Amino acid sequence: MSNNIVAILYLISALLFILALRGLSHPESSRLGNIFGIVGMLIAIITTLMFKSVLSYFEIGAAILAGGAIGTFIALRIEMTALPQLVAAFHSLVGIAAVFVAGAAFYDPASFNIGEFGSIGKSSLIEMSIGTFIGAITFSGSVLAFGKLQGTVSGKPIVFKFQHFLNSIIFLFIIFLIAIFVFNQSPTVFWSIVLISILLGFLVVIPIGGADMPVVVSMLNSYSGWAACGIGFTLSNNLLIITGALVGSSGAILSYIMSKGMNRSIISVVLGGFGGEQTNISSNDNSDKIIKQGNAEDAAYILKNADSVIIVPGYGMAVAQAQHSLREMGDILKKNGISVKYAIHPVAGRMPGHMNVLLAEANVPYEEVLELEEINHDFPITEVSFVIGANDVTNPAAKTDEQSPIYGMPILDVEKSQTVLFVKRSMATGYSGVDNELFYRDNTTMLFGDAKKMCENIVKSLN
Ligand code: TAP
Repeated sequence: MSNNIVAILYLISALLFILALRGLSHPESSRLGNIFGIVGMLIAIITTLMFKSVLSYFEIGAAILAGGAIGTFIALRIEMTALPQLVAAFHSLVGIAAVFVAGAAFYDPASFNIGEFGSIGKSSLIEMSIGTFIGAITFSGSVLAFGKLQGTVSGKPIVFKFQHFLNSIIFLFIIFLIAIFVFNQSPTVFWSIVLISILLGFLVVIPIGGADMPVVVSMLNSYSGWAACGIGFTLSNNLLIITGALVGSSGAILSYIMSKGMNRSIISVVLGGFGGEQTNISSNDNSDKIIKQGNAEDAAYILKNADSVIIVPGYGMAVAQAQHSLREMGDILKKNGISVKYAIHPVAGRMPGHMNVLLAEANVPYEEVLELEEINHDFPITEVSFVIGANDVTNPAAKTDEQSPIYGMPILDVEKSQTVLFVKRSMATGYSGVDNELFYRDNTTMLFGDAKKMCENIVKSLN
């Protein structure tokens, strides 16, 4: 295939990837966006397979089959709630792939047309070492993020004095090693860059606590894009450079939007000191406090007699898969002339857009689903807030308790409505491990039970 045809096909793929990103930015266009992405990737793979330099279709075919089978198996089995850790695990693979490709190019530069071992061009060495550095950080940071999200490693932030300073010194040391590597091309220096970058990846993620993990996952997403971009330079593959840059920049934009949503500074995320100043998880002894408890009939009575209801879904709704019965409940209330809206916090659930996807799946009309800044001013003029499986995103400690790990995160002001109904199974804390004093307020009624069962019972009572 001529270089011109390859360039045109790669350009078409790149355009399709851009259209995919555009489509994925809204639930209504997301399916089309996904199709654009699939077609773009198909064109990219077929074009690459047509290269004269391909040595063995058998090995490539075997790898595609094995990888495709593993991917399909995981995609079919994965729970929606476990997607963030899956994404983190996949990012770690991109990171380690970048290190391996750089290693292969370093030991066998002739195959990559970048010279001979020991006499590789300086620009190739710079590309290679930067790709290695970002890949290794992405690898270890993602492995640790996976552990924290999966619960195999404690999600608590680990902080110590001079953490930022230490990270900065290690970063400068890596730059120094890269400079040496470019001049002496020593394998020892190459592997030192790999090991120290792996260490830095761990150090960047250890101070990050529970509620701040989403931003870190999207930041690692961005790093994995830049790592892929680095591989693209090593392999002289323009499409990989473009795709990597698209992932890298869209991940960076998402991190920025999310850190703004969480009221955090993007710089501290990049430096890895995110949430590090706050070490205490507030654990007030609430055992002697009184709570008001209700059941489905009580909830149905309160809802039926309200004129406005805001539904606040959270992680528990996703776990219980309560979205369909919730929508049914909302429909009955609407039929009774009650205004029903859904309030979405940017980090509700366990991945960006988690609640939007589930509500869309249950055919909740998009115009009823409002983002935090669109709906927060409605709570004071709303009769009932129906909080279903959400906790951290409503916790006023984010506004009042400077020691709290969620301090500074904007919350949905459910407490300002006349009545707050909390559907959850127990008094347990949410992801961040912080108690929610709203449970003990006079205008709160706790509805203990599985979110789906509770909605089904409320629907029965309403009918
Ligand atoms: P959480 O604060 O985690 O609270 C969820 C609540 O749901 C829990 O308190 C739990 O209480 C309840 N629950 C669990 N299973 C349930 C079920 N079957 N039926 C009824 N309730 C159930 O959730 P949130 O308010 O959505 O906040 C999200 C948190 O996750 C934030 O801290 C956020 O930073 C973090 N996070 C978000 C993301 C993204 S990108 N969205 C990614 C990673 C982490 P019980 O056990 O008492 O039922």
